[in-house]
Amino acid sequence: MRANFTDAAGLGKGPVSMEPYRSAAYFEMERDKVFARTWLIMGRTEDVANVGDFIVKEVEICGASILITRAAGNEIRAFHNVCSHRGNQVVWEEKGSRKTMFRCPYHNWTYGNDGRLLAISDEKMFFGVDKSKCGLEPIQCDVWDGWIFINLNSDNKVGLHAYLGEMGIFLSDIPYPNAGRSIKIQAYLKCNWKFLIDAFSESYHIPVLHSKTIGPSFSGLNDPAGHLQNAEFFGPHHSISLFGNPDYAPTEAQLVERLAYKGMASESVLAANQSDETEALRAHKSVNPAKSATWSMDINEIFPNFHLDVAGGGFWTHEIWPIAPDYSRYEMRFFVPKPESVRSAFHQEHYIARLADVVLEDLANVERTQKGVASRAKNFMILQDNEVLIRRMMDTLDKFVVSDTLEKALEGCA
Ligand code: FES
Ligand SMILES: [Fe+2]
Repeated sequence: MRANFTDAAGLGKGPVSMEPYRSAAYFEMERDKVFARTWLIMGRTEDVANVGDFIVKEVEICGASILITRAAGNEIRAFHNVCSHRGNQVVWEEKGSRKTMFRCPYHNWTYGNDGRLLAISDEKMFFGVDKSKCGLEPIQCDVWDGWIFINLNSDNKVGLHAYLGEMGIFLSDIPYPNAGRSIKIQAYLKCNWKFLIDAFSESYHIPVLHSKTIGPSFSGLNDPAGHLQNAEFFGPHHSISLFGNPDYAPTEAQLVERLAYKGMASESVLAANQSDETEALRAHKSVNPAKSATWSMDINEIFPNFHLDVAGGGFWTHEIWPIAPDYSRYEMRFFVPKPESVRSAFHQEHYIARLADVVLEDLANVERTQKGVASRAKNFMILQDNEVLIRRMMDTLDKFVVSDTLEKALEGCA
């Protein structure tokens, strides 16, 4: 008898409305009650490893461009990427390093990486500007376990660690391999952001949609549907563990895969590393928390839009950024070692190509789902136990969009 995770999550078992996937009004509520006031992922501390390093991230649903810097004193800070002069975006690059200042490309107002306005070009022609009051607008920013988050609500009173709650404790101190080296894939999709969240939140589809890629390693003779191995629920966040086929081996015809993994000790075909490099990762209490012998990976979903996926051979992330009710930006990062040999370079190319193939299978699907749901031929989804995260996400969102404050929303999810 399989564990009933839907019961364990305290959820009902009835059909779930599809209206939030196509409703402009619901999208507005998601903007105001979710994205404008929850903590949002920006990246890793390694992305701004040295003083002067910066990254710029867009939060389209809130119309915000965010500048993350590492200022003198090693402090990581976040600002609206908006000039005090006439509102132009100050930094146009996605990332880089500026030892001293940011210069707005419009009229050369310059800012320190601590946000201070340093200089105004042709200042004498202005009418007594107090530079100390015209710095970049700061945004709440904090770091958890090497992950940088921001909160766009300047009145926010819930700290990052309180927001993550038990989920933050559950996942703390995971020794992420190659956290400083990643490859990013980005795509714009004509679908509601939740279809992308859903695409990476269950394993029911894997033997079917991914039958030609990872299907055979995520299902097996004794578990053709690839059932969940475990599920954990923490406030609005949650984590599931997926089935892995211990008997999986590439067929005779899969020559490239056989060559890529020949002579390499790894935990699965989704391994970026040799298994001795990921021993500490696999030993962590919250990686494969049930310590199942038939395990492939964990999906850790940090509400609302961040997936931190951990497999035996490494980790990767998905970020899903809403733009419009039917338009979204998807960002995936693979964290990979620096190849030290031709063999490891080849293996890595195969690993990335394999994962990219799988993700393309998912991405090619979501716009079709959007079309189907937008047609209004159906009004409800029928979800099974493997899809518990989808049901729980919709339940959580429903609670958030009717809550006046983040505190109340979190209380509702306790
Ligand atoms: S808008 Fe930035 S210097 Fe004018
Ligand atoms: Fe998939």
